Amino acid sequence: MRIGITNLKGGVGKTTLTQNLAVCFAHMGYKTCIVDTDRNQNSVSWSGARDESLPQILVVGVTDPKAVNKTVDKLHEDNEIVLIDGTPSLSEMTTRIILVSDLLLIPILPSAHDVRAMGQFFERYEQALEFRDHIPAHFFINQYSDKYIIHRSIKEMLQQFEIGIMKTTFRERVSYLETAVEGMGVYEYSDKKAKKEVIEMTEEVLELAQKEGLLE
Ligand SMILES: Nc1ncnc2c1ncn2[C@@H]1O[C@H](COP(=O)(O)OP(=O)(O)O)[C@@H](O)[C@H]1O
Ligand SMILES: [Mg+2]
Repeated sequence: MRIGITNLKGGVGKTTLTQNLAVCFAHMGYKTCIVDTDRNQNSVSWSGARDESLPQILVVGVTDPKAVNKTVDKLHEDNEIVLIDGTPSLSEMTTRIILVSDLLLIPILPSAHDVRAMGQFFERYEQALEFRDHIPAHFFINQYSDKYIIHRSIKEMLQQFEIGIMKTTFRERVSYLETAVEGMGVYEYSDKKAKKEVIEMTEEVLELAQKEGLLE
C-alpha cells in the first residue's frame, strides 16, 4: 500500500505522521519504507539517527518529481507499506504524490488560517481526479485538543470539504519533538499517551485500507 502524506503547508506534521506511522507499522510486522520528497530531507536525517537495534525502516530521498513514480513503484514491489513524506511546495511533486498514492493523509493544524489555505491543495487534488477518478483522502488534525472550543469548531469547518476526517488526532506533545531527533517514533518511547494515539491512528489507517481493498 502506498500512502501519501501531503499538504502544501509546511510545519503541519507531515514528517511527524510519516515517521510515527512507519515505526508503528514496522513493529506490527509490516515491511515498511519511507520516500522523503522534501528538500530538507528530514526523514533521511531521522533514519541516520535511528538505532540499528530498532525495527528497520528504509528511507529513500527523492527530490526530482520525475523520479517519484518509479521509486515508489520499485519500493512497493518488496515493501508492504510505502509512506511518502510530502513537500510543502506548490509543485509538480505534490501532484505526483497525489497520483501515485493509494491513500492520502492530509495533516492540518486546527487553525482557521490553515483551513483557508486548503483551497490551493484542493486545486491540485481536483486536477489529479481528472486522471484517476477515485483517490481516497482524509484529513488528520494534528496538535488538537478537545478542550478548546476553537479546535472543535475547526473540526466542523473541515466538513465543508468532500473528503474524510480521521477520527484519531494527535495532541501537542514534547515527545514528538524528542523522538524525532533520536530517529525513533513515540511507539518506542516512554510517553504512553502518545504511543496510544499513534497506535489508534495506525489501526484507523489499516481499517481504511481494508475498506478500500488495499491490503490482503
Ligand atoms: N503533535 C505534535 N506535538 C508537538 N510537536 C509536534 C507535533 N507534530 C509536529 N510537531 C513538531 O512541529 C514541527 C513541524 O512538524 P513536521 O512534522 O516537521 O511538519 P512538516 O513535515 O509538515 O513540515 C516539528 O518540529 C515537529 O516535531
Ligand atoms: Mg516535513
